[in-house]
Amino acid sequence: HKDLNIGLFGFGVVGQGLYDVLLNSRGIKASIARICVKDRTKKRKLPAEAFTFDKYDLLNNPDIDIIVELIDDAEEAFKIVSEAMKKGKSVVTANKKMVAQHLAELVQLQEENHVSLLYEASCCGSIPIIRNLEEYYDNELLYSVSGIFNGSSNYILSKVFNEGLAYEVALKQAQDLGFAETDPTLDVGGFDPKYKVTIIAAHAYGLFLNPDDIFNIGIQNLSQHDIQYAKEKGYKIKLVPHVTKIDAATISLLVMPQFVDRHHPLYNVENENNGVIVEAAFSEKQFFSGKGAGGYPTGSAVLSDISALTYGYKYEYKKHLQHIEVSSSNNIEVKV
Ligand code: HSE
Repeated sequence: HKDLNIGLFGFGVVGQGLYDVLLNSRGIKASIARICVKDRTKKRKLPAEAFTFDKYDLLNNPDIDIIVELIDDAEEAFKIVSEAMKKGKSVVTANKKMVAQHLAELVQLQEENHVSLLYEASCCGSIPIIRNLEEYYDNELLYSVSGIFNGSSNYILSKVFNEGLAYEVALKQAQDLGFAETDPTLDVGGFDPKYKVTIIAAHAYGLFLNPDDIFNIGIQNLSQHDIQYAKEKGYKIKLVPHVTKIDAATISLLVMPQFVDRHHPLYNVENENNGVIVEAAFSEKQFFSGKGAGGYPTGSAVLSDISALTYGYKYEYKKHLQHIEVSSSNNIEVKV
């Protein structure tokens, strides 16, 4: 393989995480050629020549082989990613909102331009859930995918529950640690895990859904009473997204806080950790856990996608369950 030259967009928590992870990884045949950033005044740890403010310095540069998109703004990210693909460059992104909102278009752009778009880092940080669903699970046999998909909400719940911290204090910590979105409503309102559910449904069942059609409740309205009740019963409260195959024709999707007892695999998933439970006919129940947010864990998932591009990896998606009908009576269920 030839070494890949990376054009990187964004140098925030994940961009810097990727930079460090890449520096410490031997054997990856890729290096960052240039970084496009927005803010001209920010002080950065690399020399000024490493950066540009003009996206076309990366997109139009024939020496740049792949684009890694790690910016915050989902709409601007979609423009960058689609332009890159139209210019024949494969892309790695961590932007769950952008991927969830534009997945069908993005898949089409990949096909039309014979490029690959990978986004393992968009779901559950360091846990390789998309690759698992792509590679290992037949959607006829897959019963459900559920878990903890939002590190910030889980961090807050852990701190409030275990240490009695005030909600606002715990949220501020999640922000300071770089786990939370710029708009933390996306986390605590259950939108961020909903974007992840949308992406997971595509890889689990070949469903291309509008995230707006999926039901979500977050943790921001949990009361002291809810927490007290859970404690009395020996439960914890976790924000749990579910993608569940109800029967051959129905998939249910939702994001909602729920009680978990001490036998539940998610009971001991604390702080910014995520957990993913996959249930399938023959493999039965499997459980993955690991860091779901933060620069290094997310950077490591981005790096695994960059590595996959060095050998031409592409997602295939599951094609045969795509004829869907969203039930009008109930947002949660999708008729297949
Ligand atoms: N804000 C997200 C979270 C970051 O807290 O899980 C990782 O996607």
